[in-house]
Amino acid sequence: MNDKTLVAHHAAQQVEDGMAVGLGTGSTADCFIEALAKRHHDEGLNVTTVASSPISTLKARELGLPLLAFEQISRLDLYVDGADEVAPDTTLLKGRGQDLVKEKLLASSSERFWVLIDRTKLVDRIGARFPIPVEVHPYAWQMVQALLEAEGAKVELRLGTAGVAITSAGGMVLDAVFGSSLDVSTLNSMLNSLPGVLEHGIFHRLATSVFTGADGRVDILQPSPLDN
Ligand code: A5P
Repeated sequence: MNDKTLVAHHAAQQVEDGMAVGLGTGSTADCFIEALAKRHHDEGLNVTTVASSPISTLKARELGLPLLAFEQISRLDLYVDGADEVAPDTTLLKGRGQDLVKEKLLASSSERFWVLIDRTKLVDRIGARFPIPVEVHPYAWQMVQALLEAEGAKVELRLGTAGVAITSAGGMVLDAVFGSSLDVSTLNSMLNSLPGVLEHGIFHRLATSVFTGADGRVDILQPSPLDN
């Protein structure tokens, strides 16, 4: 069993009967969906789920998990997803996929948010490996690009297989690289306040536990009260 599968199974084992569970997107979230569906099927574990993307919706449906639409739910017990980077204070970078708006909504509307990674995702600071995805209204991308550049970022419009990448919320994505001197809390507040921005990839003070698979064991990282 590789480290992604290991953390996914570990997390699925902790899901309790009757929970409403948000399902993330990506290869690690896929392993979790499979492990959860197995418990639902084999043990009769009673769960309802809400998926963060069309691809996770299809997967959950194929595997027989009870699914609700976003419109049918106001709070969840748990959201489980992967991440692209995790900093020591449990701030995350997400959004290599196309579903940032739903991902942050699920993370913010869940009692608990468990993040599943292998140790390749651990970084010293957010933005160490990847640009920060900033999802924008399509008509706003050039203005937001200029606003980000005025904050010192290098910005590229994300392209997809058929031209410009379009998210499931109908947005476009600017991938922004900031200098390492900007602290993540300041960056998060700045991106939250920019007009024209639908959502961005910094998940600050949202994760309640990070499960890291490393050489066959699972390490658990939780935010310190000082980081909250
Ligand atoms: C999706 O937008 C991202 O936030 C994913 O959570 C991320 O890309 C993790 O994917 P893997 O589990 O495949 O690494």
